[in-house]
Amino acid sequence: MAEASPDCLAIEITDLTHRYPEGGPGAKALRGVSLQLQQGEGLGLIGPNGAGKTTLLAYAAGALVSDAVRVFGEPVTRRSVARIRQRVGLVFQQPDDQLFLPTLADDVAFGPLNLGLAPDEVQIRVDEALAAVGLNASFRPRQPHRLSGGERRAAALATVLAMRPDVLALDEPTNDLDPRARRALITVLHKFPTRLVASHDLELILDLCQHCVLLDDGQVIRTGATRDLLANKELMEAHGLEVPLSIRLAR
Ligand SMILES: Nc1ncnc2c1ncn2[C@@H]1O[C@H](COP(=O)(O)OP(=O)(O)OP(=O)(O)O)[C@@H](O)[C@H]1O
Ligand SMILES: [Mg+2]
Repeated sequence: MAEASPDCLAIEITDLTHRYPEGGPGAKALRGVSLQLQQGEGLGLIGPNGAGKTTLLAYAAGALVSDAVRVFGEPVTRRSVARIRQRVGLVFQQPDDQLFLPTLADDVAFGPLNLGLAPDEVQIRVDEALAAVGLNASFRPRQPHRLSGGERRAAALATVLAMRPDVLALDEPTNDLDPRARRALITVLHKFPTRLVASHDLELILDLCQHCVLLDDGQVIRTGATRDLLANKELMEAHGLEVPLSIRLAR
């Protein structure tokens, strides 16, 4: 691997534009987006429905390929993308997009097996990843599509943790979670300091992200310290969002 210098950015995106082929002429999901994620930092992606958050995460994690994206200094290209996907773990907005094998243990083992790891090492990773998301051994033989919504979300995260990525890219990670599961998730995520988090759960963004990027209509509207940005009532309301309750109460 072309090892990048330790002080380079985890993710750097420069002037990224994306148009979905089905979107019709002129419809761009991303329009000249730039952002930077430092190593050891949480960066939030916020914005109304359709703003482009999921599309941006797909690029950051190498699910879509553009050399406008650099991961640990390396441009994302067809040649580098397999390596990049190992370094940035993407947890999808819809867990069902991530779970497709007959049992949960198979799903969590899938990535590590593809890395060519020995079966013993794969089992260690499966156990570790399931434990990290609070799914005990009784879940191993369960059929993923028969889990509850919150269990499926935890399972999808486990498939990513088993790859031991350097960066977590999380798309609406608290959807479907009850308050206890949400709190447990936050505790787990604090162990993965370099993270990119797209969410409408702005309290989560406050908790996990030092900086955040406000997107609307495929464009970066503002980047800044999370608390300052989320406390800006005019800005938030102009883009379909609200100042989170914890900030309103603290006034
Ligand atoms: N596969 C697709 N084909 C065509 N257009 C798409 C596709 N996926 C997303 N889009 C469009 O791209 C734009 C950005 O979508 P995206 O899913 O990135 O937004 P988002 O910010 O994640 O929204 P949400 O908060 O609803 O999850 C939207 O206008 C959406 O309709
Ligand atoms: Mg989305």
